[in-house]
Amino acid sequence: MKFITVENYEILSRKAAAIIAAQVIAKPDCVLGLATGSSPIGTYKNLIEWYKNGDLDFSAVSSINLDEYTGLDGENDQSYRYFMNNNLFNFINIDKSKTFVPNGKAQDIKAECEAYDKRINEMGIDIQLLGIGLDGHIGFNEPDEFFTKETHQVTLDPSTIEANARFFQSIDDVPKTAITMGMGGIMSAKKVLLIANGSAKKEIIEKAFFGPIDPKVPASILQLHPDVTVIFSEN
Ligand code: F6R
Repeated sequence: MKFITVENYEILSRKAAAIIAAQVIAKPDCVLGLATGSSPIGTYKNLIEWYKNGDLDFSAVSSINLDEYTGLDGENDQSYRYFMNNNLFNFINIDKSKTFVPNGKAQDIKAECEAYDKRINEMGIDIQLLGIGLDGHIGFNEPDEFFTKETHQVTLDPSTIEANARFFQSIDDVPKTAITMGMGGIMSAKKVLLIANGSAKKEIIEKAFFGPIDPKVPASILQLHPDVTVIFSEN
């Protein structure tokens, strides 16, 4: 594991974007595993800027996202599809038909999860970008008695609902369930890049990467991955 501590969010975002940009340059038809939430916004801003400058070309890139709230379609401004379109895809030359986010409105959630795993297996993720929740979740793999391998539907932890309420009008509007890529999909990525900032995340980062591997701290499974980079900024 490479653990990089930086001074602030701006540097963190530039470094994370540089790692993703290097992947796109080295393999123009790579598959990017992408995340939503507040952590990657700065990373995406840098990638958009470098695309606009002519330094990056996403025309052959595909992407596969970690998760989506159940019950929201891609037009809903709280959905993760909407987030991806409006924080990255609309501003770069990626072919949107090659960008995948779980369908939160699927009639048959189990079939949607199975199809998502099939897609992950077929496409293969070159680099997976991750944030981390205050309870140690990655994707929406919440603390549990065991690690779940497959893409699956989850009931969000009350602390996750509380943390995500900042994006909604009221806490009651936060969906209670989501579809998430499982640990199998995340661990199958050739490289993993986890970014975290803020003093509130210091404790969980220490537990996840320097404590025991424990499904109660879901991100701790990454200690078993052969190519993980963590970038952390306390500010
Ligand atoms: C988002 C995701 C989540 C977030 C985590 C941290 O696709 O999978 O695991 O990465 O909740 O969220 P932020 O970055 O908002 O602190």
